[in-house]
Amino acid sequence: MISPAVVLDHVQKTYGQGAQAHTALQSVSLEVPAGEFLCLLGASGCGKSTLLHLIAGLEPPTSGSVSVPAGGAAMMFQDPALFPWLSVADNIGFPLARKGLGATAQKARVQELLAMVNLDGWGHRQPHELSGGMRQRVALARALAQDARVLLMDEPFAALDAMMRDRLHDEIERVWRETGLTIVFVTHNVREAARLADRVIVLASHPGRIAGEFSVKLPRPRRIDAPEVAQLSRTITDSLRSVLRGNDDAS
Ligand SMILES: Nc1ncnc2c1ncn2[C@@H]1O[C@H](COP(=O)(O)OP(=O)(O)OP(=O)(O)O)[C@@H](O)[C@H]1O
Ligand SMILES: [Mg+2]
Repeated sequence: MISPAVVLDHVQKTYGQGAQAHTALQSVSLEVPAGEFLCLLGASGCGKSTLLHLIAGLEPPTSGSVSVPAGGAAMMFQDPALFPWLSVADNIGFPLARKGLGATAQKARVQELLAMVNLDGWGHRQPHELSGGMRQRVALARALAQDARVLLMDEPFAALDAMMRDRLHDEIERVWRETGLTIVFVTHNVREAARLADRVIVLASHPGRIAGEFSVKLPRPRRIDAPEVAQLSRTITDSLRSVLRGNDDAS
């Protein structure tokens, strides 16, 4: 039995108080086995980012518990949020410098990470010189520099065109294979979830809660336009539709 890397036990998150209170997540229980590629799928506002923020420890749950491995979880945001005044290498090295790693070791690790995200030779450039896809790769390398065993990704490729997204799917799958990381990946793109995930969790809204899950047994690497990926996407979309109908009935 593989031990879980992330465990959420009856997690509730309520923002605000009294009449202003808004429950973003209710009774979410979830175990993510070490090494799993998990996709969280749901409509806008259903609490996907909130769930990642709780796992990242950026905010506490109102009730229930969240457990992650020692060393915590690294987070990659939808917006690459690079420091514009730092070079690519210094952006990636930022978490290493904060950990107090010496200059030589830092340089060597940054080179390794640049190679891992296919940006060899780009370390001296500034973020504004890069394409959107390259910036996301820098953000990925910076998240990997935290050396956490869990990587949280919040719609990281949503702003990219389909071809760039396709390439980055290949790359994140390779990085995941090479590192053995546990990945929790948020998306509202059903095809993207079917392309990447070992397991897809479908969330419902108002309040955010787990409405269903799909284990994805399709062999890897998968193509996003493969018939079996399309077939699975249809099944998941049907489930999402009925979840959305349930939301409408409840509101
Ligand atoms: N800091 C906050 N204070 C108050 N309400 C918040 C806060 N963060 C999120 N919310 C509310 O919680 C709910 C869930 O938000 P969240 O950002 O987690 O949704 P999401 O599923 O990530 O949506 P999207 O797909 O649009 O990114 C929303 O109704 C949102 O307005
Ligand atoms: Mg979000």
